[in-house]
Amino acid sequence: MQSPTILGNNSTDHLDLVREIEAGLLAESPSISPKFLYDPLGSHLFTAITLLPEYYPTNTEKDIFSRYENQIIDAIGVGGTLIDLGAGNCQKAESFFNSLKPSNYLAIDFSIEYLKDAVTKLAGKYPHIEMQCMGMDFSKQILIPESISDTKRMFFYPGSSIGNFLTSEALHLLRQIKNQAKGGGLLFGVDLMKEDAVLKLAYDDPLKITAAFNLNILNSVNSTLGSNFNIDQFDHKVIINHTENRVELFLEVLEKVTITWPGNSRVLNKGDLIHTENSHKYTVKSISELLKNAGFGKIQIWTDPKDYFAVVHAQ
Ligand code: AVJ
Repeated sequence: MQSPTILGNNSTDHLDLVREIEAGLLAESPSISPKFLYDPLGSHLFTAITLLPEYYPTNTEKDIFSRYENQIIDAIGVGGTLIDLGAGNCQKAESFFNSLKPSNYLAIDFSIEYLKDAVTKLAGKYPHIEMQCMGMDFSKQILIPESISDTKRMFFYPGSSIGNFLTSEALHLLRQIKNQAKGGGLLFGVDLMKEDAVLKLAYDDPLKITAAFNLNILNSVNSTLGSNFNIDQFDHKVIINHTENRVELFLEVLEKVTITWPGNSRVLNKGDLIHTENSHKYTVKSISELLKNAGFGKIQIWTDPKDYFAVVHAQ
């Protein structure tokens, strides 16, 4: 059986993660980076979110992919190296293997641990595709190893994960992709601005799966930092910020509490908010402008009939 090459692990080490969480908790407006949402339970809760009828991004993206599959494949062109950013279980990329026919597949994710198993399974199923995987926190820097073929790299970034970044950060990420694509391009999904009621339901669903997903970040922080957050003392809160064009997720403090962890502590008062995630919403115009700023020249955009979501190919 074919097995994937593991190209080292550039994931951030434990001490850096601890320092990052600490800095966020001690800041005047406390925050926790959304990457801490995805511990093993959080990853399962996110998968559950994608199955909710109210969470339109996953289904809508899938619908656009299948509606315009031929046009999308034509835009990308077959062959080359498929580079999957935030690959997770690699399912979305796999659905393109037969039509896109990549010769190589490089799966990248924050944690190499999940990825290894997923890519190993895939390597057995597609022995003709050479597979590699890497642990990398690409929110800071994308560095594709020299050993990866430098002809036609196709970056794949579905699910509107780009929405987690501030515009300046997204621009930085897109520039790095443009500089490393070597004649290839980028296929990604981006969520579009829409009426509040739809956004509110998608991020504050009646089954409270999103609430559980958001609150679970405190479990994830407790195990990384050794802190004593008690889930019962917090509530899921969603704010739609029209100035910044984004949905913001917070944890609202329900009663005064002192959070302690090795070496430090933080008092939180009733009503205080811990910021956990931004989910930026674009327009066809704003995403095109961002891509042009990042150096992309050829941009194609496909949307669904309701204009809820966009699939973008940029070269
Ligand atoms: C994975 C960042 C695209 O912003 O919609 C879903 C994460 N947070 N529900 C999103 C998320 C709450 C999701 N992204």
